[in-house]
Amino acid sequence: MALQRPCFIDEDASFVMECPEEISQLYFPLASETGLKSCVSPDLGGDAKLCQETFLLEPVSVENLHNNRSTRNFWMVDSDGVAVSLTGASAMQQATRFTPNQDSSRLTAGLMWHTLERTVCSIGVHAKMTSFVPVQDNVEILSVTVKNYTEKTRRYVPYAAIPLYGRSADNLRDHRNVTSMLHRIHTTEHGVLVCPTMSFDERGHRPNHKVYYVLGYQENGQKPEAFYPTVEEFIGEGGTFTHPRAVCEAYLGVPAGTSRAGREAMGAFRFPAIELAPGESCRFVLLLGVEDSSADVDAIFTRYNSVAKIDQVLEQTKRYWKQKVNVAFSTNNADRDRLMKWICFQPYLRRLFGCSFLPHHDYGRGGRGWRDLWQDCLSLLLMEPGQVGQMIEANYGGVRVDGTNATIIGAGDGNFIADRNGIARVWMDHALWPQMTTKLYIDQTGDSGILERVAPYFKDPQAMRGNGIDDTWTPDEGNWQRTAAGEIYQGTILEHLLVEQLTAFYDVGEHNLYRLRGADWNDALDMAAERGESVAFTCAYAGNLRELAEMIQTMDKACPGREIELLEELAILLGGEKQDYDDIQSKQERLKDYLDRCRFTVSGQRMRVKLSDLAEDLQQRADWLTEHLRRQEWIDHGEEGWFNSYYDNDGQAVEGIFPSGVRMMLTGQVFAIMGKVADDEQIKQITRSADHYLYRPEIGGYRLNTDFNELKFNLGRMFGFAYGEKENGAVFSHMAVMYANALYRRGFAKEGWKVLKALADAALHFESSRIYPGIPEYFSADGRGMYNYLTGAASWFMLTMITQVFGVRGQEGNLLLEPRLTAEQFDQNGTAQVSLQFAGCPLTIRYHNAEGKEYGEYGIASACCGEQMLTQDMQGRIVVPREQIERLGAAGGVIDVKLV
Ligand code: G1P
Repeated sequence: MALQRPCFIDEDASFVMECPEEISQLYFPLASETGLKSCVSPDLGGDAKLCQETFLLEPVSVENLHNNRSTRNFWMVDSDGVAVSLTGASAMQQATRFTPNQDSSRLTAGLMWHTLERTVCSIGVHAKMTSFVPVQDNVEILSVTVKNYTEKTRRYVPYAAIPLYGRSADNLRDHRNVTSMLHRIHTTEHGVLVCPTMSFDERGHRPNHKVYYVLGYQENGQKPEAFYPTVEEFIGEGGTFTHPRAVCEAYLGVPAGTSRAGREAMGAFRFPAIELAPGESCRFVLLLGVEDSSADVDAIFTRYNSVAKIDQVLEQTKRYWKQKVNVAFSTNNADRDRLMKWICFQPYLRRLFGCSFLPHHDYGRGGRGWRDLWQDCLSLLLMEPGQVGQMIEANYGGVRVDGTNATIIGAGDGNFIADRNGIARVWMDHALWPQMTTKLYIDQTGDSGILERVAPYFKDPQAMRGNGIDDTWTPDEGNWQRTAAGEIYQGTILEHLLVEQLTAFYDVGEHNLYRLRGADWNDALDMAAERGESVAFTCAYAGNLRELAEMIQTMDKACPGREIELLEELAILLGGEKQDYDDIQSKQERLKDYLDRCRFTVSGQRMRVKLSDLAEDLQQRADWLTEHLRRQEWIDHGEEGWFNSYYDNDGQAVEGIFPSGVRMMLTGQVFAIMGKVADDEQIKQITRSADHYLYRPEIGGYRLNTDFNELKFNLGRMFGFAYGEKENGAVFSHMAVMYANALYRRGFAKEGWKVLKALADAALHFESSRIYPGIPEYFSADGRGMYNYLTGAASWFMLTMITQVFGVRGQEGNLLLEPRLTAEQFDQNGTAQVSLQFAGCPLTIRYHNAEGKEYGEYGIASACCGEQMLTQDMQGRIVVPREQIERLGAAGGVIDVKLV
């Protein structure tokens, strides 16, 4: 069998692939902005849902993608009684899939649409099935066109067949059969509706109003003529979904207006027989979805009841997503540029699907995590910054006054839910991300005023940074922190940042490093809560303190000598000059003092602090941490060297040269570089070590760690995973991209590009990655792309390409250009360009490197925007005032930059 691969067919990165069903584990996302989330496999398997409680189609995990046929199908029976599935999912077609001269199939897909074509020789039909979900409705549309490609007139009986699961994903194992008894099923003129009587939940059953449906019509308005509303009636006694007796043995079915109760529902119906002359075709439309009432289902039908409407809405849907992904790259490699389209689309997918609703993501119940929430904003800031300011402000309402944050995140912005568990888990990296996003926001928009806008603090029974409970709190008080007088307390965003950074600074373990707590970015380091320390994220926080100091300095520069107001209790943590940062015990006591004071309420009193003092205080802390980390954590190994990333629960450093081999983790290196803890010489040693111990280009590049050859129950579950899988030594895209980002930030462009290129090329190398275009969460030990689409790596990849590789970024709202492209990234004309939005204007930035010079050898000779020459700053970078860009208006402009 020749291996098929996706091939791009246009600028929008649509692609085509032959016989996709011959590759396992493929799936494609389709979703509305209003909640419907579908995935389709190459034979139209896969599920569809609104949320954990509301699955339209039976939930699938990647392992049952290939055998679960409780999903979409469309059958045709010819006049000889030969029954085939147009999706290729009949027992006969599956059994002969790999024999010679089988039916051919082809997938063509683009952002949010999926077309499967299949030539079915046994009945002389060519079928084209397009699936998509309109932007504003929770309906999945399947348009099926069948064409008689033979030279004689043929007669067929068509059947639509989609089982309606219609309940919570929990009921897959929890009372699957009992919940089918809740089903109330009705056939209407156009299909089958099921409205379960209740949402089954033993903690408290609730009445249900959701109506799940499958409707269908033929192009000429023809309705189905008979229905098979239950699974039993459709598959028949002893039948299966891949050999349904109703189809194979022409069961009569029941008419519209029939009711059934207490059975598994089936959206199956038969259309009147069709006769197709040679070359003639005929079209059917299926609508499947969930609504709140049958009247709403009728309204959906009215909106989508003709093929003209379907064609129009398909075009609208395509246009909508094309416009959303308003970033385009053009370099020496068209495939990589098109891969970038998908990568830039992925943050939207993660916003819609969360981290739970595609077949690999078979964990979680749909909520989004704190760090994901913030990092997904990074890409939004680059693509549609309009609403992000408000989103950021709202999200600060999730920070608790003890510096931790809400971890149960509801729908919509700023909707956080109380955690009523005993002691909650604290992820020690959480306080890092809000600042990173806020910094980018200020850089891109110039809205530094956001730091002085106010937000409340989150309040629930969790207190003392996950070490205590506020048993006086009751839900009636609401989820906002109150003062002793009972008022809701609000502080500036800057104060929220200080609360997060300062409390973390004191939460140290026996090596005077930030404690690992429940885990850090690496969720799988979850078994060292007592004595574990994260050196990696101590480095990251050192970087945060430094950047926060810089942001405060900028505020001070705007109005020298200014004072701001802060919550009085913070005085316990401030006043650095009187503190001995080497003294672990006094640090811990100071933190305890602050947490005790804020356990129930806050005073609500404010103190005044000079911005310059504050900046200096934070800077000193960053310097102290840097020195401490360099002195204590650096593993020098001749030409090579790297930072130890963690201490385990026995208080032992985990990296170095061990009898079982070299132990090195990427995470510590990433944040030592990003946080400016590593000096330039150390970065060189780190890259040499990473190249030696972690780099495997054939599987995506830099692994997360070497093989520890030990089940470290004193550090985390990751060591239970096979080496090379997920957090245990896979090439984990998110961390690899952050490694690239860190290297670029420090001017190591060639090294950074090596990281990004390895990831992109591995993703595109279908022979090993076996994924549709996109960046997967990680590459498995054999190079397969895993957990495709939903990963924070996408936001970071895009961010790094734009702000570092192309060096197009905001600086206090102005546009800064500082390219870090390597010679190979320019095309044969010596050009590399990116198109994006900045200050509300579409811009194309075109770099010309006529002499093909390497990064480090070229500098900017000149730059112009149309007729207008642009000026350079002291470092030779181009800075364009925001107003100048804004004047370009909606038409935008092109900036040409000459490199010599
Ligand atoms: C996933 C999680 C992310 C976590 C990471 C490592 O990564 O979503 O929160 O930090 O695993 O455990 P991602 O989805 O960003 O690739």
